[in-house]
Amino acid sequence: MKLIFLGPPGAGKGTQAAVISKRFGIAHISTGDILRENVSKKTDLGIQAQKYMEAGQLVPDDVIVAMVESRLQEKDCQEGFILDGFPRTVVQAEALDKLLEKLDIELDGIIYFDVPDEVVVKRLSGRRICKSCGAIYNIHSQPPKKDGVCDLCGGELYQRSDDEESVVMNRLKVYKELTAPLISYYEKSDKFIKVDASRDSSVVVEAIVEAVRK
Ligand code: AP5
Repeated sequence: MKLIFLGPPGAGKGTQAAVISKRFGIAHISTGDILRENVSKKTDLGIQAQKYMEAGQLVPDDVIVAMVESRLQEKDCQEGFILDGFPRTVVQAEALDKLLEKLDIELDGIIYFDVPDEVVVKRLSGRRICKSCGAIYNIHSQPPKKDGVCDLCGGELYQRSDDEESVVMNRLKVYKELTAPLISYYEKSDKFIKVDASRDSSVVVEAIVEAVRK
């Protein structure tokens, strides 16, 4: 199963990718997670990316495309993968088309997470993430059993710095300007699947799996 997850910040891409990648034994490639790991390790890539991420801007296309090109050739992608948060500009989508052709990979679905702005803003304000295992929670909709503690590994939960309200507004603006045009880029493909992602998580996951199976 080879999928692209496309949608606004806070749409639930990471939440659903974690469930589906585990269920089908495929790789979850989150460009945001790869960048955050590089920021925390203070690598050259992380130092370069940090200022864009903190401002809610996109990291330059050439940096991201090179990162994905190398990740897609790792062994765990052979059985399948979910690209979560990539592509995010038309330039990235065109580069991905070329890359898939070069690597002889055919996509099974481009899943568009359709969610209104007000839902996204509420979800992001309540998001908490485990520092140790990366599990995603929400204080409104998916709270941990114990405040601030991960149910799965007991790790400490934190709030992403780019989930601060003013940065969220900028991320939404950037999404509309640069990423939303990808809906028309992919809409004409028979692999394009629009999912109402404002519903409960368990409903959304089954809707995605069912649509891809069909
Ligand atoms: P990235 O990490 O990719 O952030 P994003 O796309 O803005 O997406 P999010 O992770 O915020 O949201 P999500 O859709 O995964 O939602 P989640 O499942 O967590 O990127 C961060 C930054 O990195 C970018 O701003 C940019 O600077 C850079 N970057 C990354 N990729 C790039 C690229 N390709 N090019 C250039 N720059 C790039 O869910 C959100 C919350 O909602 C959670 O609390 C969750 O529990 C809750 N929730 C989820 N689903 C539901 C549901 N159905 N019902 C109720 N609550 C739900």
